[in-house]
Amino acid sequence: MASRSDVLVKLLAGQPVVPVLKIDRLEDAVPLARALAAGGLPAIEITLRTRVALEAIRKVAKEVPEATVGAGTILNVRDFENVERAGARFVVSPGQTPDLLKRAATSDAAFLPGAITPAEMMTLLEHDYTVAKFFPAEQAGGVPFIKSLASPFAGLSFCPTGGISMKNAGDYLAQPNIVCIGGSWVAPDDALAAGDWARVTKLAAEAAALRAKG
Ligand code: 3PG
Repeated sequence: MASRSDVLVKLLAGQPVVPVLKIDRLEDAVPLARALAAGGLPAIEITLRTRVALEAIRKVAKEVPEATVGAGTILNVRDFENVERAGARFVVSPGQTPDLLKRAATSDAAFLPGAITPAEMMTLLEHDYTVAKFFPAEQAGGVPFIKSLASPFAGLSFCPTGGISMKNAGDYLAQPNIVCIGGSWVAPDDALAAGDWARVTKLAAEAAALRAKG
């Protein structure tokens, strides 16, 4: 049966790590997206946590065809519509609300809603989602928690983010109910401040080499 998460899974194309980006300077957006794509991480999540985030999404959508631009930290329908207009191809929320689920159902953009409790997971299954964001992953129980969801929630897989780095990424990706992980470690603040795009590409290449999941 088709699930509402099919488009998302197709867009991620097996990419094991999705960079979670907080862009403070608009001029960083395009070189950052290019550097990540060059390292093998074309799908990126630009979070709505800065003043320039929407414009950054717009610029990357327009100027970096090799990237698959997504938007994160979507908290309400207004955020959803703003990033949709800016050209986000996938939309990520740390949680879910009835209004967001309703709005996402009429959008061409793929939606990755968050779930961290069994009740939220059941709601997503009722809405035909098969993939949920799991945030904040480490703080909420990490790999053992996600492992214990596999049996009761056999129809649901997860994209954990929060507290993940190269140190524990492999443990997450080894779980059969994890589609991909997200993290900010591939785009460290000091690399952005220095415009060290070669370092970003190197970090992305290391992350991209982690076991890909279908
Ligand atoms: C997110 O929004 O997914 C997280 O803030 C990313 O968490 P990290 O910075 O610990 O990778």
